[in-house]
Amino acid sequence: MSGGELRTRIAELISRDGPMPVSLYMMICLHDPHAGYYATRAGFNRDFTTAPETSQVFGELLGVWTGIQWTHMGLPKKLNLIEMGPGRGTMMKDMLRMIRMFPRLSEALDVTLVEASPLLREEQKRTLAAHTIRHVESIDDAPPGPAIIVGNEFLDCLPIRQFVRVAGAWRERQVGLNAKRELVFGLSPPVDLPPGLSPTSDEVEHTPALELLVDKLTRRFSEHPGRALFVDYGPDTTSPADTLRAYSQGQQVHPLSDPGGSDLTADVDFGRLAGLARAAKLQVDGPLAQGVLLNKLGASIREKVLGDANPARAREMSAAIETLVSPAQMGERFKAIAISAPSLGPAQGF
Ligand SMILES: C[S@@+](CC[C@H](N)C(=O)[O-])C[C@H]1O[C@@H](n2cnc3c(N)ncnc32)[C@H](O)[C@@H]1O
Repeated sequence: MSGGELRTRIAELISRDGPMPVSLYMMICLHDPHAGYYATRAGFNRDFTTAPETSQVFGELLGVWTGIQWTHMGLPKKLNLIEMGPGRGTMMKDMLRMIRMFPRLSEALDVTLVEASPLLREEQKRTLAAHTIRHVESIDDAPPGPAIIVGNEFLDCLPIRQFVRVAGAWRERQVGLNAKRELVFGLSPPVDLPPGLSPTSDEVEHTPALELLVDKLTRRFSEHPGRALFVDYGPDTTSPADTLRAYSQGQQVHPLSDPGGSDLTADVDFGRLAGLARAAKLQVDGPLAQGVLLNKLGASIREKVLGDANPARAREMSAAIETLVSPAQMGERFKAIAISAPSLGPAQGF
């Protein structure tokens, strides 16, 4: 099915049921089984580049982080390594390369990937052909036992609702049709704002799936020790406002211009995620700038080791690492947050 056909189908849904919230539009555009952005792509580098696709050092240092947490957890004989939204599988491959340096951890590891897209699952199997992995729909389906959970640029594709205050009343942004049957943004009648948001202006976003995620982590960590580490972009404490963006072929495009053909993303509400996790009595560390975390985990040491091993590519590799850690590039805009079982105490590296 082409992007045009998905647009027609969305228009038909709106004609039948009325304007849809941004969250439903986002869900259809990303995950429709026939035409959704992730459902129909085995990769996305044409459209945007993530940290693991920028430098192998990103995944390798998360491998180091995993080794440190495993040691802190008392070297459990079995450790679930669970990745949420693994994309092409690059980060897991790089983590596992580093984890090979901890032979006992390598033996203890059981790898689970939480991935919605069937095509990306196939791509992950190819990337990780040398390893035993399993795919699951939800973190609830991962095996029991101690766990390290990681997710890079996973939270920013969770569907958001958007609210706008007009003349003192909050209204929800919706996707509707104009007289020419083109997709357009509009506003609902007045609604109550979901509780717990911290708007700093007349616009605010809400990600209902964050509640679900914290519920799942709380349930899991009440039975098995574990730490989750998410890296993404978004404000530290305030709720994001009007941050829905679409990317296609490296360019930012209008979110309604090519449903299913462009990636849709929004800033992560780190403040709300941290607040929900704290309210559930989980341990929260961060958000901490990605560059600070990677430097603490030894980015410059890894840069030297890789450069010495491959002098012909040393400058190129250094430039890629600089992209990850430099505050002017990804180092400050991207942040890491760790959410853990309270019994584990503060996460190392924060
Ligand atoms: C922006 S990509 C990031 C990929 C990878 N982590 C990286 O950094 O290169 C988002 C990933 O999350 C997956 N994803 C998005 N929503 C999901 C959901 N609700 N459940 C499982 N996977 C999801 C996508 O299919 C994709 O693999």
